[in-house]
Amino acid sequence: MIRELSGNEVNEIHYELLVKDIVAAAEKLPPFPDIAWKVTALIKRDALITEIEEVIKYDQAIAARILRLAQSAYFGRRFEINSLRDAILLLGSKRLVQVIVAACASRYFERGGAGRDEKELWEHSAATAIMAEILCRRLSNRKILTIYTAALLHDIGKTVLNIYAKIYLHSTLRQIRGESRLVKVEQRALGIDHQELGGIIGRNWKFPGEITAAIEHHHDPERAGRFYQVASMVYVANELTGAIVVKKDSPSRPPVDPDHDPVFKSLGITRKMTEHLQADLVKNLAGVKSMLAG
Ligand SMILES: [Fe+2]
Ligand SMILES: [Fe+2]
Repeated sequence: MIRELSGNEVNEIHYELLVKDIVAAAEKLPPFPDIAWKVTALIKRDALITEIEEVIKYDQAIAARILRLAQSAYFGRRFEINSLRDAILLLGSKRLVQVIVAACASRYFERGGAGRDEKELWEHSAATAIMAEILCRRLSNRKILTIYTAALLHDIGKTVLNIYAKIYLHSTLRQIRGESRLVKVEQRALGIDHQELGGIIGRNWKFPGEITAAIEHHHDPERAGRFYQVASMVYVANELTGAIVVKKDSPSRPPVDPDHDPVFKSLGITRKMTEHLQADLVKNLAGVKSMLAG
């Protein structure tokens, strides 16, 4: 005998299928180019400039982005860069790898379209990466590239989730968020949140465990286990950036209170320090925008 499904059962099935669909879309993202890791390995063994150039030139679209970013006011402010070779010679190895990671990441943020939301998400991601770098220097943390990469991609799950929100909710998640925490709203509305989805994407890209864990737990670093240090740095960078870059149509976030936030406290970040860190980011924001405009 065929039993009719109850409304709840239909809803459950609908949810299950929706989550499967979202996860499948995340798993279908093109692999993250391995240029940055290849170039890092070449730099470590003092390879010739031409070898590095060969690796970068292999993907013409990425090579063009790298050159554009290297010429931006943020990265190339001290030099005139006219070619990839100039970029390799003049940027310095650390900056060069950062430019490559940014160039590779930027393509994923353009997939959902070229609207204001996509632009703002990429801008927020780049600003968080710059803040992470400032924070690393202030705390003498030597994992700059790891933390910078995790910060740049911490919201990568949103690039997939936002598309589903537009299709299923006819709205952006930000608009329906109200005062609630975004991850909770995402779980309720779509059955999965951008942190969890980011973790799936990071594992699929075979990122180092600490980068994936930081993406997966940038709102709750306590759950990142042995990768707490990197996750907590991304958490702080995200909080400090979010408090500065206020979006026009979303409710302003309550300001972070470093003296009462356990993550800030664990890193020894005081209120006075956050003021300096945020002032540093504000100084660099125009550069971030020029970098994104390329
Ligand atoms: Fe987030
Ligand atoms: Fe964020």
